[in-house]
Amino acid sequence: MQLKDVNLTAEQVQELTKKYMIETYERFPFVAVKAKGMEIFNEKGEAYLDFYGGIAVNALGSCNEKIIAAVQQQIAEIGHVFNYPYSIAQAVLAELVCKETGMDKIYFQSTGTEANEAMIKMARKYGTEKYGPEKYHIVTALNGFHGRTYGSLTATGQPGSVLHKGFEPLLPGFSYAEFNNLKAFEDAVTENTIAILLEPCQGEGGVRPATKEFMAGIKKLCDEKGLLLLLDEIQTGIGRTGEFMAYQIFGVKPDIVSMAKAIGGGLPLGAVAATAEVASVFVPGSHGSTYSGSPVCCAAGYAAVKQIVDLNLSKNAKEVGDYFAKKLETLPHVKEVRHMGLLIGVEFDIPKALDIKHTAIDKKLLTTAIGTSIIRMVPPLIATKEDCDKAFDILKAAVEEVSK
Ligand SMILES: Cc1ncc(COP(=O)(O)O)c(C=O)c1O
Repeated sequence: MQLKDVNLTAEQVQELTKKYMIETYERFPFVAVKAKGMEIFNEKGEAYLDFYGGIAVNALGSCNEKIIAAVQQQIAEIGHVFNYPYSIAQAVLAELVCKETGMDKIYFQSTGTEANEAMIKMARKYGTEKYGPEKYHIVTALNGFHGRTYGSLTATGQPGSVLHKGFEPLLPGFSYAEFNNLKAFEDAVTENTIAILLEPCQGEGGVRPATKEFMAGIKKLCDEKGLLLLLDEIQTGIGRTGEFMAYQIFGVKPDIVSMAKAIGGGLPLGAVAATAEVASVFVPGSHGSTYSGSPVCCAAGYAAVKQIVDLNLSKNAKEVGDYFAKKLETLPHVKEVRHMGLLIGVEFDIPKALDIKHTAIDKKLLTTAIGTSIIRMVPPLIATKEDCDKAFDILKAAVEEVSK
């Protein structure tokens, strides 16, 4: 939809939004009217370099032609049919993702938080059916992020934060332990624990990768205690970190993994993939959702994931991510650069992340800020070293300007 189609100016769009929408986001100061590849264009036709990728969604950049064609074909041939008939798009995407992840079975959802709800429900059902009614507790990591619906929100180990505040009481059966601290997890596990749930690299928590030792220790702990390992790869999955899934870098296979964001190629799609044994607890009636595995979303997802695999974009994410991270270390006021592939966090020694973000937007670079001192970048996986050079120059100018 363009401004001329509804006879509005960009200012009027912003006024309508402020008047009628419940706003929970800090908006960029422009109306996005078009996008292509690594660029998003405002109402004046000015291009912004996209280093947030719709928050790790647009792995192939914006308006990828194969995704557009797949969506157009699917919506023209069959739109929504619910999960009664078999669906071609579901079947081929299920096969592709199971093969790439090494998992046996997949269940489609529409969002990341829903994928985590399904993962939590599957783990609880497995635990209570196999071991007894108290075996449903899950230990998750402090500073993690798993989504906004109640199960995922409770799993989000940020007690007292704005995420939890006002929404208590949360669900029973969750406890939190310090990320990257194996002893803390060992201590948190009780006889009622069925699973440990983690992000292999905490994204919203400030881009903090797990250490190899920690992940190996968690897997050993799970094996020894008969616990399920649940990994949330909603942000890290589908090529972003340098392998198809981040757990392949750690050499640690989960019992269930959740995915979303890039898997839908820009349409709302999430999924949980599991071993056949754990997946077997979901039977007709156990779980469901009207839009689960929507053919249009699965067609977009298949076009996206197939290209990510065929173009080996995980390799690009690793090469370009390593190059960019090294360069970012030379920025002024850098305290630490953390990254896995093209999931990159720059922590500054000045509490000016928001100012840096805004100044970079003025200079036509889009990033996101986490807390007071971290800039997070999750650009499309098609990003080149030249794109990173451009982003670096803008960030450098922004940091210099705000630290004057
Ligand atoms: C690791 C992780 N888990 C869960 C979610 C929630 O996904 P969604 O926003 O699609 O519900 C996110 C979103 O940023 C995420 O990064």
